[in-house]
Amino acid sequence: MSGLPGACSAASASNVVDGLHRLMDHFGLVFAASDWIVPPEGAWTFIGDLNPQRAVGVTVTTTSPSPHAQALRHRLAEQLARGGYLRDPAWLDAFRAVPREAFLSHFAVPSPDGDHRVWDLGDVAARDDALAAVYTDTPLLTQRDAEGSATSSSTAPSLMALMLEALQVRDGMNVLEIGTGTGYNAALLAHRLGSDRVTSIDVDPGLVDTARRSLERAGYRPAAVCGDGAAGFSPRAPYDRLIATCGVARIPESWLRQVRPGGVILASVGFGLVRLTVSQPGGPASGPFLDYASFTPIRRTTEQVSPTTRDDLALADGNGATRRVPFPGWEVLEERMVVFLRSVAMPGVRQVTLDSRAGKEYVLADHVTGSWARVRQNHEDEAQAVENGPRRLWDELCVVAESWLAAGRPPLASYGLEVGSDGRHELWWESSGGRRVSTFPLPPA
Ligand SMILES: C[S@@+](CC[C@H](N)C(=O)[O-])C[C@H]1O[C@@H](n2cnc3c(N)ncnc32)[C@H](O)[C@@H]1O
Repeated sequence: MSGLPGACSAASASNVVDGLHRLMDHFGLVFAASDWIVPPEGAWTFIGDLNPQRAVGVTVTTTSPSPHAQALRHRLAEQLARGGYLRDPAWLDAFRAVPREAFLSHFAVPSPDGDHRVWDLGDVAARDDALAAVYTDTPLLTQRDAEGSATSSSTAPSLMALMLEALQVRDGMNVLEIGTGTGYNAALLAHRLGSDRVTSIDVDPGLVDTARRSLERAGYRPAAVCGDGAAGFSPRAPYDRLIATCGVARIPESWLRQVRPGGVILASVGFGLVRLTVSQPGGPASGPFLDYASFTPIRRTTEQVSPTTRDDLALADGNGATRRVPFPGWEVLEERMVVFLRSVAMPGVRQVTLDSRAGKEYVLADHVTGSWARVRQNHEDEAQAVENGPRRLWDELCVVAESWLAAGRPPLASYGLEVGSDGRHELWWESSGGRRVSTFPLPPA
């Protein structure tokens, strides 16, 4: 499916289930910087219609400059600058110049009550309100499958700004973006660096076709290509910078090979945004976690179907062995750092908290091995676990939580990741005593 610009096939007929599940993995938690703030599955309802085929913006209804849109755009850019997300005047200029609405037609906005409001920029009567929604600092759902799971979105502008600043670009640099989506981020990059310096790849040919048209209409011509971004895009390598706008469990080896020494890879690994500097071709690469971030997970193909929360609960509904286990407390289990560390240390393991009259239950599910654990607190520091499958997921989680507690609860900013040339990932953390490697290993994803 990969190829040079122009080699993309027509939109795939099936828009498939993406990883809304992964984002609901931690529902109940709201990250400061999120691609998504996702409600529980039951609240995933739509006001209006967000048809997958129409949602990808086959008809982009607006590119003409509107004074109203421009005023809103400038206001949002200033808001991002005041919030400390935009510091470099060149990025402020890009956010003031590139019209986000040019990359959208139908889109959905999460509302505080958990519902989603769907907007159509082609609806003249509602256009001003739709534009106001475009220029709020929120992620916009732009594509979903028939079951309502997100397959693409326009990331919250503050997270986009944070990432673009963190990319530390300079004039003349070549950038590879993984996850073209609407094309808005590619347009910002093209505005900043010049179209010839930007390559953007998305696994979904329909999205690439639409993004390419939107980009052209907005006056940008970066290379927008179809393919699995996990393989990078070697025809235009080496890159000075690689920015992934879909989430990964591990950094693919191809990224280490295609980014030049001294270059930077910025990606969301688990629920943390990490900036790695590549020291040699093919690695190693190392760098700090910068913030919490939760992205639409990478898909190897558009046909990939991910489990949902319903699937997690169905898996963990069977009979299992019962035992008494130590319980670190809900405050620790729900602590962002523990959620983050679990996402990195236990890739693919999904978590749901059930809160009913009978009390709270912590559920872990691993669909690869069929392992699961359901844990309910008995006493202050003791719980009853019901488990099945080859993995003892509760024990694995406790090792992660205990290691963080024993380290004195370091904040995210103390943590970093090292990726070896052999692909091995190592989590490190720094304190006044120097840098240490985490006591739990990071298995391959
Ligand atoms: C959060 S959206 C990207 C937002 C985009 N940067 C924008 O400005 O609109 C994540 C995107 O990653 C894409 N994606 C998922 N798996 C991928 C893969 N293996 N290779 C490339 N793109 C992928 C999805 O199709 C989706 O469009």
